[in-house]
Amino acid sequence: MKLNIALLAGDGIGPEVIDQAVKVCNAVATKFNHEINWTPALTGAAAIDAVGDPYPEETHQICLNADAILFGAIGHPRFDNDPSAKVRPEQGLLAMRKKLGLFANVRPTFTFPSLIDKSPLKKERIEGTDLVFLRELTGGIYFGEKGRRDEGETAFDNCVYTREEVTRIARKGFELAMQRSKKLCCVDKANVLETSRLWRETVQGLEKDYPEVEVSYEFVDAVAMRLVQWPNSYDVLITENLFGDILTDEASVISGSMGLMPSASVGLKAKLYEPIHGSYPQAAGKDIANPLATVLSAAMLFEGFDLNEEAQAIRNVVNKSLAEGVVTEDLSNGAKAYKTSEVGNWLAENI
Ligand code: IPM
Ligand code: MG
Repeated sequence: MKLNIALLAGDGIGPEVIDQAVKVCNAVATKFNHEINWTPALTGAAAIDAVGDPYPEETHQICLNADAILFGAIGHPRFDNDPSAKVRPEQGLLAMRKKLGLFANVRPTFTFPSLIDKSPLKKERIEGTDLVFLRELTGGIYFGEKGRRDEGETAFDNCVYTREEVTRIARKGFELAMQRSKKLCCVDKANVLETSRLWRETVQGLEKDYPEVEVSYEFVDAVAMRLVQWPNSYDVLITENLFGDILTDEASVISGSMGLMPSASVGLKAKLYEPIHGSYPQAAGKDIANPLATVLSAAMLFEGFDLNEEAQAIRNVVNKSLAEGVVTEDLSNGAKAYKTSEVGNWLAENI
């Protein structure tokens, strides 16, 4: 297969972890006879510095024309403590999601047998955890009207959802549940929020189209609790944008390191693959960041083209690196830590 991939490295450790994923993808392409053309494009603080826009039109066109997008991370500390900054790197990410119609964010959480002791949670609680969040990504409070009134003394962010927006993400949830254990949990706050009542009503209305799927409805606060108590009781969870943002960070610690969890964003005009961690500016340029979340995101990318053997080859080599201790310092337990680039080289060679 011939694949044109847009490469958005972004900020912080983004470029370093992306480099490793590219090495691994190229090794997969050689082994399985594919051709990958990479087109780099600017985003985030790097794009603000270069052209004053965190998601420039040129980058948008490259993304639209690509078969898929591999994304690193965006964010820079110089914006974090400056609430008055007019242009922020994160706006680039949100603009990209909206303009590409990436409404479904797929965030799996699973454990690695060789890392089970790295988790802050007790082993018997998390063993066998294998769940997927489907987070709605282009609506809700992130994109509702926001602003100030009363001379700046009052601020507001509106949370808005249409039935159509809920329906399309819910259908994806039902379809994913059908491919897995046929269990779907709708996470909302329907005891308080009108948007949540629309979610619940819409999902209830779709149940008849998927009679085999067992649906449960749970409030977000209860899910936050049960997620760390009995994560292995969940399978597919669907939720709105902000709840999904918070719960997927919470879920990511189950595996033992945030540097491990991949994600995919799909929808109308593009497919984007990215690690769920951020730009980790403290580690930028030091060649110490864990590249595995990005490498595993590349595995999801291959899966997006039904190249399942290729995806499995990546997962196998990642498992092998973990089992053999070819890991960055976040996972090395005081033993020899490999550099980001060394882990990437090792993975590519072992493909
Ligand atoms: C994420 C991030 C983003 C979000 C930020 C960087 C805008 O936290 O992808 O989860 O809130 O969606
Ligand atoms: Mg987040």
